[in-house]
This record gives sequence, C-alpha cells and structure tokens, in this order.
Amino acid sequence: MKIAYSVEELRAEVAAWRRTGESISFVPTMGNLHDGHISLLTKARELANRSVVSIFVNPIQFGRGEDYAKYPSTLEADKQKLSAAGLDLLFAPNLDQLYPGGIEEDTRVSVPGLSSILCGQFRPGHFSGVATVVTKLLLNVQPDIALFGEKDYQQVLVIKQMVHDLLMPVQILGQPIVREADGLAMSSRNAYLNARERELAPQIYQAMIRAREKLLPQTLSLIAIETAGMAELAAVGFRPEYFSIRRAQDLGLPQAGDTCLQLLVAAWLGPARLIDNLRIELPEPLKAS
Ligand code: PAF
Repeated sequence: MKIAYSVEELRAEVAAWRRTGESISFVPTMGNLHDGHISLLTKARELANRSVVSIFVNPIQFGRGEDYAKYPSTLEADKQKLSAAGLDLLFAPNLDQLYPGGIEEDTRVSVPGLSSILCGQFRPGHFSGVATVVTKLLLNVQPDIALFGEKDYQQVLVIKQMVHDLLMPVQILGQPIVREADGLAMSSRNAYLNARERELAPQIYQAMIRAREKLLPQTLSLIAIETAGMAELAAVGFRPEYFSIRRAQDLGLPQAGDTCLQLLVAAWLGPARLIDNLRIELPEPLKAS
C-alpha cells in the first residue's frame, strides 16, 4: 500500500494509473476505521482496478461545540487495517493540503433543500462542509466510482445531488449499513459510549424495527408512529432529535401512493450523537392520511 500525504503525490499516483487505462474506486473516510469502512473498501476493490481511501477529519463539517477536537485519530491502526484489506493508495492529507488558504474564506459548495432538513436542521452548515470536502477529494482522486456507507443516508443523497448538479463524471454508490451483532450501526462515534450507554445503544435499531412493524398494516398514522418512536427512545435515556419517516428517494414527506420509505433517526446518548435508518418497503401503496 502506498501513502500520499500531499495532493501532488496523490495526483502523480492517479495519473500513472490513468496512463495505463486502469479504473479507480474511492472511499472517503475520517479514519478511526471499523468493519463498515473495510466492507466499503472490499466492495471498492471489486469494482475497479485500483482503490483509494482518504483519511481526513474535515473541520468545516463540524459545528461549534461539536466533537472535531476530540474526534479519534488512529492513523497507525488504520494503515494496518487498510494494508491488510489490500488497499492500493491511502491519501492522508493535513489541513494545509486541503485548505491551503485556511478554512474561513474558503470556497464552499452547498446543496440546497436536502441540506437543511433532518440532520441539516440540527447541524447547520454540516452538509455544506461535507459537500465542499468531497468535491475537493473527487476532483483530485478523479475516481470512476466513489462509495459511501448508508448509515449516513442523507449524506449519500446530498452527494448524489451535488454530483448530478455539478456534472461530475463519477458514479456514487451507497452501501448497506454494517451492524454489530446486537443491531447497533457501526460508527466511529460508538467509541464515545460508556459500558451502560453501549448496552442501551441498540435500542435505536429495536425502536426502528417496531416502527416498521406498526407501519406495514397502515392502521396508524405516520405522525403517531414517529411520536411513539421519539417517546420510546426518550423513556430509556436518549435525547432524540428526530424519528422521521420519509420518502426513500428524496427524503420528502411521504405522499399517498408511495411504497418505498426510509425511517431516519438521530438521538443523543450521553456524549454521542447516534444516527441510523431503515428501509421500509410497503406491500400496499401508502394510503392518504
Ligand atoms: O462520512 C464521512 O466520514 C465524512 O462525512 C466524509 C464523507 C469522509 C467527508 O468528510
């Protein structure tokens, strides 16, 4: 596995592959890698001749008071995992490489609409931070395909919209959530949980499964199911931000006739903000409420 610390080194490697006609897949990460990331890399390797992973904790996608300063950095362990998983090139830039003019006056990319709902409502500026750094990464890695985990379902849609609107010549592929045996979605932020919180954390998944069971017969309103989900999580010690049933394709409010929905949840547990989501395929089209 090669490692590029600078944009120049990255471009030189990629250019050499391009000269010999090799295809490139890309997995952007913020490091502190877990099996979910490795499953993205495994898929990436199946889909192209060469694969690139980036590790960069992007300051501009964190709000004031969020966990940027304490975001776990485990670069040496990450390198070992990536090398063992057969990665060709790790791109691990520092702040100056990606933000040579600093972060205050830097150009920003924003995706309207999708970026202001759900997580965007609770984390203003977050998706613009993500869109900006992913643009910089895609422009320099120049992959044929880039893979993102669907735990960040809204992020995947924001990036697909951005790539569509900016005519970027890259395919964006979302990949299924990887879960722990007890149902907790794998996330670097799970490391913030103490033993008691870690035991409670899978309740998000369980609450989503219960909500799906309630939704399928279409006897209760969506609002009643969402309100019950919020209350169930609050009752066991979470501070839920949203428990929301949306259209899977664009996160709009469900309409009569829809069959493909997505349940999305964000909830604080102690110091960790956890997010998760679940696909709900209705056997019968949604009735008018
Ligand atoms: O999902 C993440 O880890 C980050 O949001 C990403 C896509 C690497 C951008 O910093």
